[in-house]
Order: sequence, then structure tokens, then C-alpha cells
Amino acid sequence: MNSDKKNNNPSSAIIFTNPNFVDTKGALFSSEKHDYETPDNFFNQLNSIFRFKIDLAADHENRKVEKYLSIKDNSLEDPWLFKGWGWLNPPYGRDLKKWFAKASISKSKIIILSPARTDTSYFHDYIISADCLLFIRGRLVFDGCTSSAPFPSLLSFFGKLTRNEFDKLEKLNLGYLIGK
Ligand SMILES: C[S@@+](CC[C@H](N)C(=O)[O-])C[C@H]1O[C@@H](n2cnc3c(N)ncnc32)[C@H](O)[C@@H]1O
Repeated sequence: MNSDKKNNNPSSAIIFTNPNFVDTKGALFSSEKHDYETPDNFFNQLNSIFRFKIDLAADHENRKVEKYLSIKDNSLEDPWLFKGWGWLNPPYGRDLKKWFAKASISKSKIIILSPARTDTSYFHDYIISADCLLFIRGRLVFDGCTSSAPFPSLLSFFGKLTRNEFDKLEKLNLGYLIGK
């Protein structure tokens, strides 16, 4: 970039939004589609390591494991008391921050699949405090979709991984893994 034209005023380059603001545009945030079903081959790789005990946002058709909580159960109001890891791929709408807020204070261990939106309030308020993050390389082709997602994906781990889990996860080579 020509340095003469470079804008050195950082405040003009960053748009600070209302902290409750989730999104602005695009398919990810439109009212069109909020439910992106995890690809089975992706889920199965994770399940081979974490042996999920419960799917925290599902219905009978798209549940990833036998035990699940549906919209009727209202997972957001459930105490989330279970042993082992819970799987969560919540709807990607305005309530996404509520799922992260809940996971971040949960006593149970939860792995969340979500868009990797580092500009959102929920990223800065909750995701950043996760025990481990895995930024997925490339874009997922969600189940029922014919092309890759219009957004990058992220796995947030709320709960400590064992050394063995971490090593196995690393070996899957799914993307950039940051652990505490
Ligand atoms: C993105 S889909 C997840 C599908 C699949 N379980 C997976 O992991 O890929 C989100 C699911 O959460 C369900 N859901 C929405 N609000 C919910 C709530 N408050 N409690 C439980 N499930 C909810 C939707 O009906 C939908 O089936």
C-alpha cells in the first residue's frame, strides 16, 4: 500500500459496535438459515476422541448421539449436569451468545461448533476464555448443503482436555489448535 495514502488513524479503521450486536449481513446472520448440521465425518472424528454423552441442541432427526436436548426441552434452561463431554452445535442466530455465556460458566465439559467470527461480542466475552480453541482449516460442508459454508468454523472447548485427548485432537490435523 502507498504509505501516503495509508490511514494511520486506527479509530477510523475499526467500527465499534454495540456489545450486544451480533451481526450485520450475509447468509450466516440472515433470517434465512441458522441451523447448520455438523457433517458426520467431521463429528465422527471428534466423537472417536471425546465420546460425547449428550447433544445439547438437536431434534430427533439431527441428533448426533442418543441422548439430546431439543427446543422443547429448552437446553438454555437446562442445568447441563452430565459426566464426560457434551456436544453443542447451536443455531447460529442472535441467541448464539447465550449458548456461549452458558457454556463458559457450566460445570460440565462442552465442545461448541460455531462460526469463527472474531469480531463478535460473544467471541471477546466468552470464546476467548475457553480452555482450548481449534480454528478449522478450510470451510465445512454442512450436512444437507451442496457447497461449503459461507463462514469459517471454530471449535471452542469449555473444559480441560486430558493430554491424551489433546494429542489425539492434534493428530486429526483439523486446523490451528490453541490450548491452555
Ligand atoms: C445447528 S442444529 C444442530 C444439529 C445437530 N445436533 C448438530 O450437532 O449438528 C441446531 C439444533 O438446535 C435446536 N434448538 C434450537 N433451540 C434450541 C433450544 N433452546 N434447546 C435445544 N435445542 C434447540 C434446533 O431445533 C436444531 O435442531
